[in-house]
Amino acid sequence: MQKLIINGGRRLNGEITVQGAKNAVLPVMAAAILCDGRVTLRNCPRITDTYCALRILKSLGCGGRFTDKNTVVIDSGGLASSEISDELMREMRSSVFFMGALTGRTGQCRISLPGGCDIGQRPVDIHIAALKKMGVTVTEDHGSLNCFCDGRLKGAEIALSFPSVGATENVILAAVTAKGTTELTNAAREPEIADLAEFLNRCGADIKGAGTSSITIHGREKLHGCEYEIMPDRICTATYLACTAAAGGEILVKGCVPEHIRPVSSVFEQMGCSVYTCADRIYLSSQKPLKAADIVRTMVYPGFPTDCQAFVMAALCKAEGTSVFVENIFENRYHHAAELKRMGADIRVEGKVAVVRGVKRLYGAKTAASDLRGGAGLVTAALSAEGTSEISNIHFIDRGYEDIETVLTSVGADIKRV
Ligand code: EPZ
Repeated sequence: MQKLIINGGRRLNGEITVQGAKNAVLPVMAAAILCDGRVTLRNCPRITDTYCALRILKSLGCGGRFTDKNTVVIDSGGLASSEISDELMREMRSSVFFMGALTGRTGQCRISLPGGCDIGQRPVDIHIAALKKMGVTVTEDHGSLNCFCDGRLKGAEIALSFPSVGATENVILAAVTAKGTTELTNAAREPEIADLAEFLNRCGADIKGAGTSSITIHGREKLHGCEYEIMPDRICTATYLACTAAAGGEILVKGCVPEHIRPVSSVFEQMGCSVYTCADRIYLSSQKPLKAADIVRTMVYPGFPTDCQAFVMAALCKAEGTSVFVENIFENRYHHAAELKRMGADIRVEGKVAVVRGVKRLYGAKTAASDLRGGAGLVTAALSAEGTSEISNIHFIDRGYEDIETVLTSVGADIKRV
């Protein structure tokens, strides 16, 4: 099992170009199933979730591979199956939106209930309710979901009970080649939704309103292939800013979209960091001891992203004062708190609330990641701790961060993968 060894206490200084967005490339790779013809995706991050999505596409009979460092080419011409194996589904929860794409393309699909990160139940009831409104019969047996639609899916009026990102993506994927029009309300507004819609419109789809709560999709008979550049990863952008806030120093993150993480930048400013943004770059400087953020509530977009909670908490462990987090999106997303306490942090978790009392120093320790962003939080804390930290289970981190040790070494961190 690989580990990260981090010698903390070094200030960071330098500039990086952020990777492509994991949560954009995955639905776009599923969407390629709907396209008749070659799909070329640029700025794809080399992370384990992208490789898993390629394995799923191959298992369905589609061709898909990296043609250079960050370009993926997919051809769904050979699609021969609409069933995803249990072990592939367990590897990656976000394979759930293959359900919308496969049912949209073939009229059926069989997937097992998704596995994924240990941050909560991760039910798919909202996905299922939406597909049923489009004429899909969904049955569950022995942990598998079976979707079937006799003929083309039908456009429908769908109001999501919660603005679920994945359910919004599944509706879009099922609706773009359905018969008629789909009006989706209470849709998720995350930027990755707009990226998926932009890709599909480039392939001949007719989607309006993506990125807002109301999305209209006019079904099309067929979609063709296209070339597309995946949007920058806003969570990775926030991660490297948090690492710098915690370790001290300054960083310029290039190739990002500053307004995608405005609520996170304002927390960094509350903490006493200087944050400057322009066009596609964010500069953060952390020159003095951090101050506590009074209360951080995770919300759906455009609020503070739940995916940023862990590493912003890590940066606040040494801040002067007490910070409070309220995790409103997932019911079990504080696993990292116990690991941070092993490093000397003072954190009290009560249900969805976590109280972080700033301490003078953190100490290097042996820690273990248990989910993707919690792992990034451990890296953030280790950079600001005195002494050496060891982080195991880094396969969780590799799901979403391309070469995290290379990126951090390039701005002065002492971090090695063993
Ligand atoms: C996406 O997950 C992201 N994953 C998550 O990022 C992110 O944390 C989440 O959106 C929220 O922004 C990908 O895009 C691959 P949801 P998703 O459906 O689609 C409940 C990361 O670290 N819910 O918006 O699964 C659900 O349990 C990952 O990159 C239902 O109850 O998120 C959760 O409490 C982690 N029923 C809440 O809604 C449903 O049918 C938000 O889930 C669907 C969701």
